[in-house]
Amino acid sequence: MSIDPSANGSAAKRAMLLTALYVAQEQYGSLTPEAVERVATRLDMRPKDVYETATFYSMFRTEPVGRYVLQVCEGLSCHLAHGADRLVDHLRERLRIEEGETTPDGLFTLQTVQCLAACDRSPAMRVNDTLYEHLTPERVDELLDELRRGG
Ligand code: FES
Repeated sequence: MSIDPSANGSAAKRAMLLTALYVAQEQYGSLTPEAVERVATRLDMRPKDVYETATFYSMFRTEPVGRYVLQVCEGLSCHLAHGADRLVDHLRERLRIEEGETTPDGLFTLQTVQCLAACDRSPAMRVNDTLYEHLTPERVDELLDELRRGG
């Protein structure tokens, strides 16, 4: 059955698309060309338009990633809280990967993003769907240990 995302206007269409992308990402691990094609077919949209939306939002991934995607905020508030550079450097050193890379064991992918809407609780980092606030390198180490034990 095909869904008509334009039936209730552009806001409803966008919400439907974002939900579909979220579900597809959960199923495929990332928004692979196959996942994008499937969403486009289900919503009767052009794959190009679906892909453009997927690449616009930081919560969506178009490349294969590790089990845990660490998204460190590099926004202004997090910079001013002396968090962004410090946390990224710390994670690069601890995980021995660069930004955009995944650890050889497939556990962690390191990314940076612009503002996680937690500016009053900076520095902030999102791990998959969970937001962590007021982070320090010590708290990041604890978090990495927790995640290695399975969360
Ligand atoms: S700038 Fe980091 S959460 Fe807004």
